[in-house]
Amino acid sequence: SDLIQQGRVAGQRVFIRADLNVPQDDAGRITEDTRIRASIPCIEMALAAGAAVMVTSHLGRPTEGEFKAEDSLAPVARRLAELLGRKVPLLQDWTGGVEVAPGELVLLENCRVNKGEKKNDETLARKMAALCDIFVHDAFGTAHRAEASTYGIAQFAKVACAGPLLAAEIDAITKALKSPKRPLVAIVAGSKVSTKLSILKSLAANVDQLIVGGGIANTFMLAVGLSIGKSLAEPDLVDEARAIIDMMKARGAAVPIPIDVVVADEFSAIARANKVTATEVRPDDLILDIGPRTAAELAGIIARAGTVVWNGPMGVFEYDQFAGGTRTLAAAIAHSPAFSIAGGGDTLAAIAKYGIEKDIGYISTGGGAFLEVLEGKTLPAFEILEQRAAG
Ligand code: 3PG
Repeated sequence: SDLIQQGRVAGQRVFIRADLNVPQDDAGRITEDTRIRASIPCIEMALAAGAAVMVTSHLGRPTEGEFKAEDSLAPVARRLAELLGRKVPLLQDWTGGVEVAPGELVLLENCRVNKGEKKNDETLARKMAALCDIFVHDAFGTAHRAEASTYGIAQFAKVACAGPLLAAEIDAITKALKSPKRPLVAIVAGSKVSTKLSILKSLAANVDQLIVGGGIANTFMLAVGLSIGKSLAEPDLVDEARAIIDMMKARGAAVPIPIDVVVADEFSAIARANKVTATEVRPDDLILDIGPRTAAELAGIIARAGTVVWNGPMGVFEYDQFAGGTRTLAAAIAHSPAFSIAGGGDTLAAIAKYGIEKDIGYISTGGGAFLEVLEGKTLPAFEILEQRAAG
């Protein structure tokens, strides 16, 4: 983006890799467009500087070499056109050549349909690199993937650099973790410990308070000997959960284990919710949310925080009777003077549901990428840009 700001891109062919992988409903309507909106500054900057602009993204996980209508970026092109207030032509079969004039923009159809994209095929990456003078990687959400349009192209393009979104994301998350205003509180929730185990461990070594929720909290309840009925949990990971509890205890900050929960006998939109204390969960119960006393205790921790990192809902917030925990935490984060940073698809959906976008310090567009940066990993597609910059 420095290149763009310095006005060095006028008349140049700029290839922007964005992450426009947005959720759609069954009718193909975009249900949440944060990523599209977040990609606008880079595109507008390049257009205003007089570049000939090509933008691409993956959408979903299509089969390579088999383009199907549902894989198309067409809905994204329409949304982009609305946001930019200009036409956004969508180009098929673009790896062999792209026609675009300076000051103009084309969207290149779903890059993950190209054969060799996912395995970062060198021939494909070189073809993409040959399309442009400057490659701009602005797809933070995909920067944990080393694919042809994220990694290979960065190796072979004449010039490769990070876009403003990629740079801002890495900067914001790294600052929140490396030089936070303390106490630093991390909320790691969601359905499974297994998908977030390494992040739980690495956060446990750094944060002042670790809050767990959702299915993850169920495994932690098992670890302290509580019964959780039929609730989602991973009994194999109870020892790992115990190790994390011990790690935090050794640092003087016990992991809060739910003292009350909301249970039901089935997982459905019409299931009846029952609030019970954590010791009263019956064999047929499903825990679908934390209880109000637990939520109030966690809200107190958040109110006293200097920095809050949030990933994952506390319960099944899509159904209002199991949304209390997530709603209370969302409100606590919104009202806390702490700098807050949030990421992940479900977390973004909760933020949108409770209308607290403006109260969050930084909202990440990343899912897997956000978790990897939180874990302290360097994202491959960012690393290659650093290598290129170092010469
Ligand atoms: C995401 O949605 O997290 C990114 O767009 C990456 O998508 P992927 O997990 O299909 O690579």
